[in-house]
Amino acid sequence: MKTKTRYTCQSCGHSNPKWLGKCPECDSWNSFVEETTTVSKDSSISAVRETFNGPSSTQGAIVRLGDPLSEEGARGRSRHSTGSSELDRVLGGGMVRDGFVLIGGDPGIGKSTLLLQVAQGLTENAGIQKVLYVSGEESIEQIQSRARRLKIKNEDKIYLAAETQFEKALLMVKELRPELLIMDSLQTFSTGFVESAPGTVSQVREVTSRLMNLAKSAGIAVWLVGHVTKEGSIAGPKIVEHLVDTVLYFEGDSGQTMRLLRTVKNRFGNTNELGVFEMTSDGLMDVANPSALFLSERKEQAMGTAIVATLEGSRPLLVELQALCVPSPFATPRRTSVGLDSQKLAILTAVLEKHVGASLINQDLFFNVAGGLKLTEPACDLASMAAIYSAIRERPISSSLAFLGEVGLTGEVRKVNQIELRVEEAKKLGFTEIVIPSSQMDRTSKIKGINRIPIAHVNEIANLI
Ligand code: TYD
Ligand code: MG
Repeated sequence: MKTKTRYTCQSCGHSNPKWLGKCPECDSWNSFVEETTTVSKDSSISAVRETFNGPSSTQGAIVRLGDPLSEEGARGRSRHSTGSSELDRVLGGGMVRDGFVLIGGDPGIGKSTLLLQVAQGLTENAGIQKVLYVSGEESIEQIQSRARRLKIKNEDKIYLAAETQFEKALLMVKELRPELLIMDSLQTFSTGFVESAPGTVSQVREVTSRLMNLAKSAGIAVWLVGHVTKEGSIAGPKIVEHLVDTVLYFEGDSGQTMRLLRTVKNRFGNTNELGVFEMTSDGLMDVANPSALFLSERKEQAMGTAIVATLEGSRPLLVELQALCVPSPFATPRRTSVGLDSQKLAILTAVLEKHVGASLINQDLFFNVAGGLKLTEPACDLASMAAIYSAIRERPISSSLAFLGEVGLTGEVRKVNQIELRVEEAKKLGFTEIVIPSSQMDRTSKIKGINRIPIAHVNEIANLI
C-alpha cells in the first residue's frame, strides 16, 4: 500500500504537490484542498462482477470491428423506454442497459424526483425487476413519502437504501443484484480508498470511475446525481463528465415550473437534445408541445419582443426574445442579458448601431429569453436584433411574424441550418409571416401556408417593423 498527498483544486481538478492560493488552471482562489490517496488493489468491484456473470468475456480481449456482438452485448445495447418521451429523447431514444448516466443540476431542481419516476418507468416499460435507489442525502422515510406524493407504482420492485459508504453500497448491489442502480448524490458518497472528505475531487473521481467499472463489467445501468455548486467547496459533476456515457443537465430556475433537461454528452446519441418538463404537484410531467408553452404568456403586439424558431438538437422551438431600453442614469449604460451571452449581445447592438443607425447612447438595455431557455445559436441573431430595434424605436412587431437568420459584422444576413424544420414549426404554431435569409428562399419554396419575407442585409429590418 502506498500513500500520496497532493493538493487538488476543487473547482477544476488541477492537482499540485504544494498548496497554492490561486489555481493556475482556472484562476479560483482558495480552492486547494489536501487530498490523500491510498493506492491499493481493488477487490470490491471484481467481487460484484463475479457475482453477476463471471469475468466479462470481452474485457481484455481483441475483437474485430465487424464481429457480431455477443448475446449479452446486444442486450446491453438495446434501448428501453423510461416511460417519459422527453427523457427518452435526451437519452437518444431510451435507456441503454449498461449505460452510465450522470444527471447534474442545481439543488432543488428535481433530480431526485426525476430518478424516482425513472425507476417506476423502467420497471413498467423495460421489464426491469429490481431497482436499487441508494440515497446519501435523504432518509428512507423521506424517499418513501416523496414516492407516495408521486404515486409511484411497482413499489415491490424498487429497493431503497440510505447509505453514504460507497463500499457498503457495493455490498448491497452484490446482495440484491439490481438491473438499475441509482446513486443520489455523487458528492455524498465516500470510498475508503481515498482518504479525503466526501465531495472532494479525488473522492468524486474515485466513486465515479468505480461505478463506471461496475456498469460495464456487471452490465448494470447506473444513474448518478451530481449537484452543481456555486462555490467550489464541493466538487461539481464537471470533473467527472469524461468518465461517464451520458451527461444530462437540468436548466431553468427552481422558482419556475418549467424544467429543461439538456444532453451535454452522449456516447449513444446526439448531444444538445432538449427535454422539456413541467414540475407539478404530481412530479415532473412531459411537455409535448413546448413551443406552445413558451409562447403561452405572450402579449399581442408588445413592444420589444420578437419570435425566433430556434433548434434544440433535432427539435425546433419557438421562443420569445424580449428587449427593454430605458434612459440610463449612469455614464456607462448597463447591458444586462438573461439567456443570451453578453458578448453576443454587445456584438448585436454594435452591428445595429453601425448598420441600422439605431442609437443606444445613454440607454440601459435589458435582454431576456422568455421561459428560461439559454440561446447559443447564431440563427437567433436577427430576431434578437429585431427585438432590440423594436424596443429602441418603440414600434411593436406584428404578433404573427417570426424571424430567422444569422447576422455577420458587416450586417449581412446569413443562412441558418435546417430552415425547413423551423419554418414548418412556425407555421404549425399559427404564424403567417416569417423573415428568412434571402439566400434560402428557394430552399423553402415548397412550404405553403406561411408568407416568407426575404432579408439580405440587416438594414432592411426598419421596413419590416
Ligand atoms: P428534488 O427532486 O428533491 O430536487 P433535487 O434532487 O434536484 O435536489 O425536487 C425538489 C423540488 O421539487 C422541491 O422544491 C419541491 C418540488 N416538487 C414538486 O413541485 N412536486 C413534486 O411532486 C415533488 C416530488 C417535488
Ligand atoms: Mg435530491
